Amino acid sequence: MLVLGIETSCDETAVAIIDDKKKIYSNKIYSQIDLHKKFGGVVPEIAARSHVELLPHVLEEAIKEAKVDLKNIDAVAATGGPGLIGGVMVGVMYGKTIASALNKKFIAINHLEGHALIPRVTENIDYPYLLLLISGGHCQIVIVEKLGKYEIIGKTIDDAVGEAFDKTAKLLDLGYPGGPIVEKYAENGDEKAFTFPKPLLKKGECNFSFSGLKTAVRNQINKLDKLSEKTKSDICVSFQYTVSEIINHKIMESFKLFNSKFPHSKNVVISGGVAANKYIRKKLSENISTLGYKLFYPPINLCTDNAVMIAYAGIERLNNGDYSNLDFEPKSRWSLDNITY
Ligand code: KG4
Ligand code: ZN
Repeated sequence: MLVLGIETSCDETAVAIIDDKKKIYSNKIYSQIDLHKKFGGVVPEIAARSHVELLPHVLEEAIKEAKVDLKNIDAVAATGGPGLIGGVMVGVMYGKTIASALNKKFIAINHLEGHALIPRVTENIDYPYLLLLISGGHCQIVIVEKLGKYEIIGKTIDDAVGEAFDKTAKLLDLGYPGGPIVEKYAENGDEKAFTFPKPLLKKGECNFSFSGLKTAVRNQINKLDKLSEKTKSDICVSFQYTVSEIINHKIMESFKLFNSKFPHSKNVVISGGVAANKYIRKKLSENISTLGYKLFYPPINLCTDNAVMIAYAGIERLNNGDYSNLDFEPKSRWSLDNITY
């Protein structure tokens, strides 16, 4: 089965073609970062208009690289939400149009399900597993029992982790998106230079809160006379250390429930843009291995938004007999535990 994937839920215009043997024929991602940079974040209206302009070109490049004829694809999978609604509408309309013109199946994919399943493309991970989904818009701990059966056992009550990285970078005037720059600066800092708060660290609490951390970073910056490059590095690494400590604590807490339900599964998966952070991966991997758990993560280019994850979720769904009708309505909100076909 050959599936064309389309991702347009935020500021990446992405198209991929993969098959059901997990072979990636093409993975094209056009990042709109340069268009949004000067605004310090994604501007929804600019993103939507850019998807309209870019999508035909990205599709053409993906087809060229894959060396396949569109007529030979079996289905089109497009992100149906959650995300910035203008962008989601563009991708869904495009996907529906290609599918109906070529008389192929169409399936609208939940973007979070894409992040949740993508590690299964590059690793042999059986269900069930514990998933930590950390991106610019989401922060959740989920028990992935099987395809379509997701139990959210913890989530952020305010900011997402990626948002906290982006805001920290903005406070330090490091640019957008913040995650990769904060990680780079952190390499030259002292992680004990500043102490930041770790909210909601109670026993049994799997929810996250990051807004206090962002405020603490702001207050710390305001107290300093000047921000040398070294101080910026110290703030970045202290912030990253704190985030990592919070994540480790929450995952340890969530093992209690996961283990009571699935005592034989020792698989933990980390996915979403922030999963690209090598420091967070390393610390989490070391920490959970002491309890016999193993951490899996996708390669960095499949952590952040991409269309391979949408095509792959499409393949699992289609194999399950799922598909969408052409009257599917794009969704700005769409929880992982509420996906129906
Ligand atoms: O998954 P993603 O591409 O888009 C959403 O679905 O949100 O995630 C983007 C987020 C941004 O907030 C970005 O700053 C963060 O992922 N990110 C990182 C790193 N690379 C990207 N955060 C920390 N460290 C990184 N290396
Ligand atoms: Zn995402």
